[in-house]
Amino acid sequence: MKKAFNHTVRGRTAVVTGASSGIGAAFAARLAQEGYNLILIARRKDLLSKLALDLENKHHVSAAVLAADLTADEDVRKVEKRISGDNSIDILVNNAGFGTRGFFVEVDPEKSQNMVYLHVMATLRLTAAALPGMIANRRGYIIQVSSIGSLFTTSHYVVYSATKAFINMFTLGLHKELAGTGVKVQVLCPGLTDTGFMRTDEFRSFDYSSVPDFVWMSPEQVAEESLKALQKNKPVFIPGAGNRIFVRALKTPGVKRILGGLFKLLGGKFY
Ligand SMILES: NC(=O)c1ccc[n+]([C@@H]2O[C@H](COP(=O)([O-])OP(=O)(O)OC[C@H]3O[C@@H](n4cnc5c(N)ncnc54)[C@H](OP(=O)(O)O)[C@@H]3O)[C@@H](O)[C@H]2O)c1
Repeated sequence: MKKAFNHTVRGRTAVVTGASSGIGAAFAARLAQEGYNLILIARRKDLLSKLALDLENKHHVSAAVLAADLTADEDVRKVEKRISGDNSIDILVNNAGFGTRGFFVEVDPEKSQNMVYLHVMATLRLTAAALPGMIANRRGYIIQVSSIGSLFTTSHYVVYSATKAFINMFTLGLHKELAGTGVKVQVLCPGLTDTGFMRTDEFRSFDYSSVPDFVWMSPEQVAEESLKALQKNKPVFIPGAGNRIFVRALKTPGVKRILGGLFKLLGGKFY
């Protein structure tokens, strides 16, 4: 497989949140393959430890595990403390996230609050912790995992779209502020990706067979395409040609109506 980075990364560190499954685990594996040491963050320590051991054995890198609930202030501070001042950190992937499904008024407000904390506050705090070291090194990459659901107004996914839209605007502004510093930022907007994301209570009634196979991407494809695009320094990246066509089509009124049918399969609507 072709290297994603054309500079040496041995001895450098990549931090990945939400590394215990799905897209985060795929980023961790791909970055270890590049030669990065890892700091893996999520709540499920057993899964993180297993992944860390696998990647250490396979790629001869070091992989540290930091169990943290990033909806809890004290855990976010613990991660900040680990990251701040560590000038070996080259990459931060703010990936941890979850979805809810249903009308806003029916969703447990505690869950909505946790989503705001995880997608917005944790992303903001960990970005703030990693940036000074990267700027001092005149090199670094921050990938903020958003969603194509951030690019249009939805129902049934209201807080999800709103928190991911925050990530987009936050990162677009950073992209401007960081011009000339050597630090690159990317908002990654995946479409449907085959991960644990929809294997939760909320999505129990979701009929996987209703979505054609070609719509799904694997988490490995998403991570691979994101890292490749990182070098181009484009602030927003949508992985998958199909997803890019989908988003462009949404801006075309007639086509948008037809495509609305697909999103209805997820029990939501876009406008
Ligand atoms: N799958 C899709 O179709 C899709 C589409 C667009 C965007 N995304 C985005 O992709 C990102 C990764 O999701 P995924 O699809 O890979 O789903 P996933 O397999 O469910 O992974 C989510 C990751 O986030 C971690 N996480 C969740 N809550 C956390 C918390 N409170 N504290 C720390 N870590 C937490 C989970 O780890 P623990 O449970 O161990 O804490 C897990 O590692 C999310 O930001 C999601 O919004 C997914």
